[in-house]
Amino acid sequence: MLQAVKEAGGIMQRSFHGHFKISNKAGVNNLVTEVDHASEKAIISIIKKNFPDHYILSEEIGKIEMDSDYKWIVDPIDGTVNFANGIPICCVSIAVEYQGSIILGAVFNPFFNELFVAERGKGATLNDKPIQVSNKDDLSSACLVTGFPYNILDKPNGPLEIFNTLIRKGIPLRRLGSAAIDLCWVAAGRFDGFYEHKLEAWDSAAGFLMVEEAGGKVTDFKGNHYSPYQPELLATNGKIHTALQGCINGLKE
Ligand code: IPD
Ligand code: CA
Ligand code: CA
Repeated sequence: MLQAVKEAGGIMQRSFHGHFKISNKAGVNNLVTEVDHASEKAIISIIKKNFPDHYILSEEIGKIEMDSDYKWIVDPIDGTVNFANGIPICCVSIAVEYQGSIILGAVFNPFFNELFVAERGKGATLNDKPIQVSNKDDLSSACLVTGFPYNILDKPNGPLEIFNTLIRKGIPLRRLGSAAIDLCWVAAGRFDGFYEHKLEAWDSAAGFLMVEEAGGKVTDFKGNHYSPYQPELLATNGKIHTALQGCINGLKE
């Protein structure tokens, strides 16, 4: 896994200032670049070489179905719009699921040289040093991050309404453009909480484990234990979870 994220990170770094083809996927400004495909190809070839029997789910190519207890979940570039615009807030994200539970995750931002790794039951690290979520217990003084999905911005009581509610409370709320980095930065205590309405398994699988292993809490918007196979994600340091969940659901605190 480490070899794969480093190899993919190298591809991202070498291509960053060059010319690469950019195409549109479904939705508005939902981009994919040649570099996403090159990164994915390198990752998949490393997985296949080492674990030819494992199942792979990867954003651009989809599923490589195998009858295996192990599934690799790959986002070859998370934060493609940033990458395509020369904004170095983007990463490669890889997780390993074993019998339905995420057991390993790695997220690498080659531009900041930040490698986040988590192993179920063994904690989370940033460049080999243990990380922990923040201690803040008051939502009004929390620093939050969110993301806007490509396709449900016009949903009633959707991302824009909740953004509006939190901003009007005077809460600093950032939008970085990479869900995997958002989650890792919650794990590292830089943000106290992150929520997003519609994520895919490859966006969140590694970062979700990072937050849990750094002592945080990850659920859907109803407070159920998080599954990467449903869209909503709420990740916090645990202490502001109920308050932020209340805001998201439009409840009075
Ligand atoms: C996207 C990023 C973004 C989030 C979107 C994702 P991509 O992934 O994580 O922060 O808001 O929902 O789709 O397309 O850059 O891999
Ligand atoms: Ca993604
Ligand atoms: Ca991607």
